[in-house]
This record gives sequence, C-alpha cells and structure tokens, in this order.
Amino acid sequence: MKRIAVFASGSGSNFQAIVDAVNAGTLDADIRLLVCDQPSAAVLQRAQKAMIDSCCLSPKDFADKTAFEKEIVQQLRLRGIEFIVLAGYMRLIGSPILQEYPASIVNIHPSLLPAFPGKDAIGQAMNAGVQVTGLTIHYVDAGMDTGPIIAQTKVQIHANDSIVDVQKRIQQAEHICYPKVLQELFTKETTNAAP
Ligand code: GAR
Repeated sequence: MKRIAVFASGSGSNFQAIVDAVNAGTLDADIRLLVCDQPSAAVLQRAQKAMIDSCCLSPKDFADKTAFEKEIVQQLRLRGIEFIVLAGYMRLIGSPILQEYPASIVNIHPSLLPAFPGKDAIGQAMNAGVQVTGLTIHYVDAGMDTGPIIAQTKVQIHANDSIVDVQKRIQQAEHICYPKVLQELFTKETTNAAP
C-alpha cells in the first residue's frame, strides 16, 4: 500500500475527501502525514480528528526555502513516505523535495491547465469570461502548474455565477476526481512493479 503525505495550506476539503476515500476502502493508500505551512489552517483539525499525524512548518522559521524544504524531506523520510499529494498547498515545490520524489508528486489545480495557472485560477477564468473551466490533476515539476497532465474535468460557469458558486462546483468535482485518479495511479504503479 502506497505510503503518502498530503500537503495542504487551507480548509482541507480535498484532504478530507482523500481521508474519506481511504476509510471507505475506495482508495488504497496509507496517509502517514499531513504537511501544512499555515498554523491556523483548518486542515490541521481535520487531520487531528482523523488521527493522522501532522507536521506544521513555517518558512519564516528557516534561513531560506532550501532549509525549509530539507526539514520537510527529513519529516517525510522519517515516515517512509513514497508519494506526495498536494491538495491546496499554496507554495511552489523546490528542488530539495523534487529531487527526493522524482515523478512522485501530484497536484490538483482549479482550472483546465495550461489555462489560468497560479493563484486565483477561478477569478482569472471568470475575468476572462469563459463559460467552461474545470480542474486539472498533474505531476509536479519545477514550474508553476506546468507538469504533465494526468486528468482533467470540465465544470460549467453559468451566467450570474459568483466566484463562490464556481468554487463550490469545482470543489465538488475535485472531491470525486482526486481520490479516483490517485487510486488509478497507485493501481497502475503496483501493476507495473509486479514481476
Ligand atoms: C482546491 O480547490 C485546489 O484546487 C486549489 O485550492 C483549493 C484547496 O481547497 N489549489 C490551487 O489553487 C493550487 N494552485 P481545500 O483546502 O478545501 O482542499
């Protein structure tokens, strides 16, 4: 069973969807750690409630980003983490983590990449006046939302939608898609690894 860490910075509804899928038996993963960079993030309470170990580190407590990420790598090694799932983690992943986990980090982003990368993807889509946006699950590389795409789901933007309406619709889709795609990835990796 894949030993995973989830990285999150905010409310953690995607973290919750992953936990729920594991508990329901539809996602075969061992969530060994939540990594969070915001001490006040609600996702920390979700982890506590689910009895999942968490580690909250602030970059401001480290000399630089490299030192911050080296400490994260240390925490991941301690728990034997094999795979990283970014779920609303609002930082670019740097080389210490990328080098330790080549092709083993995935992210979910609330747009149909390559459209609207970076922050406020939903606001960007609404300002552009598009009627269809969505979500993308992709491997993480050194760029901002530039890694190879694994899966995408379209979500409609209706006339008179507020940003909250669209965010809710995208998140509903994320909560279904992310655990499903993770299960597909983990099953594929296990099959490929079999003799
Ligand atoms: C999710 O909608 C995710 O797609 C987005 O943050 C939200 C986190 O929500 N990620 C990004 O914007 C990454 N660039 P959650 O904390 O409730 O899971």
